[in-house]
Amino acid sequence: MDIIKHKHDAIVIGAGGSGLRATMGISQSNHSVACISKVFPTRSHTVAAQGGISGALGNMGEDDWRWHMYDTVKGSDWLGDQDSIEYMCKNAVESIIELEHFGVPFSRTEEGKIYQRPFGGMTTEYGKGIAQRTCAAADRTGHAILHTLYTQSLKNNVDFYIEYFVIDLVFEEEKCVGVLAWCLDDGSIHLFQAHIVILATGGHGRTYLSSTSAHTCTGDGNGMVLRAGLPLMDMEFIQFHPTGIYGAGCLITEGARGEGGYLTNSEGERFMPKYAPNAKDLASRDVVSRAIQMEVNAGRGVGPEKDHALLHLEHLDDKVIHDKLPGITETAKIFSGVDATKEPIPVIPTVHYNMGGTPTNHYTEVISSGDGSTVEGLMALGEGACVSVHGANRLGSNSLLDLIVFGKSAAERACELLDKKTKNHPDIKNSTLDNIVTSFDRIRNSSGDISTAELREKMQKTMQRYAPVYRDEETLNKGIEIMKGLFKDFNNISVTDKSLIWNTDLVETLELNNLLYQAMAT
Ligand code: FUM
Repeated sequence: MDIIKHKHDAIVIGAGGSGLRATMGISQSNHSVACISKVFPTRSHTVAAQGGISGALGNMGEDDWRWHMYDTVKGSDWLGDQDSIEYMCKNAVESIIELEHFGVPFSRTEEGKIYQRPFGGMTTEYGKGIAQRTCAAADRTGHAILHTLYTQSLKNNVDFYIEYFVIDLVFEEEKCVGVLAWCLDDGSIHLFQAHIVILATGGHGRTYLSSTSAHTCTGDGNGMVLRAGLPLMDMEFIQFHPTGIYGAGCLITEGARGEGGYLTNSEGERFMPKYAPNAKDLASRDVVSRAIQMEVNAGRGVGPEKDHALLHLEHLDDKVIHDKLPGITETAKIFSGVDATKEPIPVIPTVHYNMGGTPTNHYTEVISSGDGSTVEGLMALGEGACVSVHGANRLGSNSLLDLIVFGKSAAERACELLDKKTKNHPDIKNSTLDNIVTSFDRIRNSSGDISTAELREKMQKTMQRYAPVYRDEETLNKGIEIMKGLFKDFNNISVTDKSLIWNTDLVETLELNNLLYQAMAT
């Protein structure tokens, strides 16, 4: 196989919020950077982030980064890394003002400041009041940030390799020295050599059947990390968002409750005050998801199956809905046929976020063992990584913040490391590349008797059923046994399209391989 070779100082895999922030940051230096993405950058899943990005700007009431830190530590069920949380919350304000200066079109207050809304678990004075801390661009904040970072990167002449699927990381003598990628458009295979490889490949929400994540959220970087023999961390921590649209799974932002929305059960009872007397519908999302599930378990679920709850926005002023929640009113109309200005939206807890992933320090360097030693040449950030700012549960709007703060940190660290390196790239042994190409070809030429779609659905149903909101030993053990069988079934997969040109069958099979590794780890 002919392999086309490229050399850069740094390469970033993934063009979501974290990948683009890191790419853009490095592109401001004298080091060369390329960004490789399997989707067009502005289709990355960050585009779907709705409610906002948290930061103690104090534009709409007194605020303090220490209160933000306290909320994040508490929200994480005390399982987050407190040094990393401190770093994130302390750097939030500066990182958001920078975004504003890059051109993110935030919603505005009457005085022209960045608009901030209340979000679950965000409080003032260490839990006493409700904070307005989540900076929003209506309910399309991720969209606004992603487009801004992409255009800034283009302005800095970044080399983008768009619709390239990264097959695997390339290691020589335990150093990450690049990646091997497949160009989906013309079928060519590319070796990207780099002194630093930054994984920003996102979460693996698609291990589950019902998820707010795009179908592309297959956590490819984490699959590569596992295949390289490196560990993942906190993989059991899967976040369920309380308000996925019933049946479709699409996100209805927590911002809807931030603007005054509330939940009811089949008896028309507003049930959250029972579970969280102070924060009520703005309790942290794990609390709200569990409350909905408890109402369902107690027989007070809504609908013929008595299996969901209702989210009310119809009492809100039309102007609030129009100015602050235009996107979700459209989504509710399309995916549940509901006019949210007149009737409640049927909602159900839906897989939304992976707290776990590739472990890193707060410089985003990948950690290979408990003593904190790092893997030379490899960095990771964003939902696919675990710098452990979210512990067992992420607070809403801390995700966009994580992407931006650690995207900036990754860029700064990469530049610092690159300043100390020579510009020469090592020769890569043919056998290293042969191994990767051989396993890629083995998958491409598989002609077993189970289709990718069939195996994927089995995995997703197993995860949904045996690793749900509430878990116990018996169901988990059952799930593990089934997953072991499904993992083995991958050896019997059937790929019907053997070509290399725009072969979606093969892309989905490689993604499934990555998903299976992560489902097993979960
Ligand atoms: O509800 C939301 O808008 C989701 C935000 C988040 O997950 O951070």
